[in-house]
Amino acid sequence: MNTVQQQGAIGVFDSGYGGLTILKDIVKTLPTYSYKYLGDNARTPYGTRSFETVHQYTWQAVQWFFQQGCHLVVLACNTASAKALRTIQQTNLPVLQDKHKRVLGVIRPTAEIIGNYTQTNHIGILGTTGTVQSSSYVLEIEKFFPSVKVHQQACPLFVPLIENNEHNSQGANFFVEKYLQELLNQSNNIDTILLACTHYPLLINKIKNYINGNTKIISQGEIVANSLKDYLLRHPEINALCKQENKVEFFTTDNTTAFNNQATTFWGQAISSIQIEL
Ligand code: DGL
Repeated sequence: MNTVQQQGAIGVFDSGYGGLTILKDIVKTLPTYSYKYLGDNARTPYGTRSFETVHQYTWQAVQWFFQQGCHLVVLACNTASAKALRTIQQTNLPVLQDKHKRVLGVIRPTAEIIGNYTQTNHIGILGTTGTVQSSSYVLEIEKFFPSVKVHQQACPLFVPLIENNEHNSQGANFFVEKYLQELLNQSNNIDTILLACTHYPLLINKIKNYINGNTKIISQGEIVANSLKDYLLRHPEINALCKQENKVEFFTTDNTTAFNNQATTFWGQAISSIQIEL
C-alpha cells in the first residue's frame, strides 16, 4: 500500500558555517524552495576527525533532517561528503527502505566539471586533512578526466582561522602563503585551484595574493547549485516532495548567539537560528 508523502524542506548540512557559502548559491539558483540549514557547530571541525566519527556525526544529522520531514539532504561539506556519504548511501539508507529519502554530496558534482577549467591538465586542490587523506577528489576526477593530474594540499589551519573570525587578519596571511607555496611547489603547471572546503571562499581574496593572475580559483557554490537544479529536473518524484515556500531556516548544535553573529559573515545578512541536539 502506498503511504501519502508530505512535502518537506531541502536539508543542507555542514560541520559549521561553511555550508552557508553553498546554500547562498543554492537559494540564488532555486529561490522558490524551502530549506533547513544545520551547522554542527558544537562538534566542528570535522576535518581532523576519523572516518568513523565523521560518519557517525553526519548520519545523526541526516536522521535529524528526515525527522524534520526533509526528503532530500545535501551534505554541503567536503569532509562529510568524503568520509560519510558513501556509507550513508550504501549502508544506512537501504536499511530505511524508503525510496523517497536521498542524500547528495559536493564532491561528485565538482569532479564532473572541474576538468573543464584547466588547460594544462594540472589541478590543485585545497581541502581539510580529512578530504585530502580520503583522496576522494583524486579518485572522482580520474573517472571523468583521466588525463588530469590532481595535486592536493591539506590546510588544517584554515577552518579554525575562519571559525574564529581571523580570516581577514594579518596572521592569516602566514598560513595562506604557506599552504599555497606547498601546493604550487608540487607542480609549475597548476592553472586551476579548487577550494575543496566550503569555508575557504572566505579566504579567496588572500589566496589571490599568492598566485599568478592566470590561475583560476574555483569555489563550489555555483557548481553544487546547478547540479542540484539538474538533479531535481531529473528526479521529478523527489522534486514533488520538496516544499516550495521560499523559506530558509537555520539550526545549530551550539549556542545561537554565537551562530547568529558569525553566520552573518558567511550569509551576508542577519540570521536567527534555533539550537537543536543531535
Ligand atoms: N566545511 C567543511 C568542508 O567543506 C570542513 C570544515 C571542518 O573541518 O569541519 O570540508
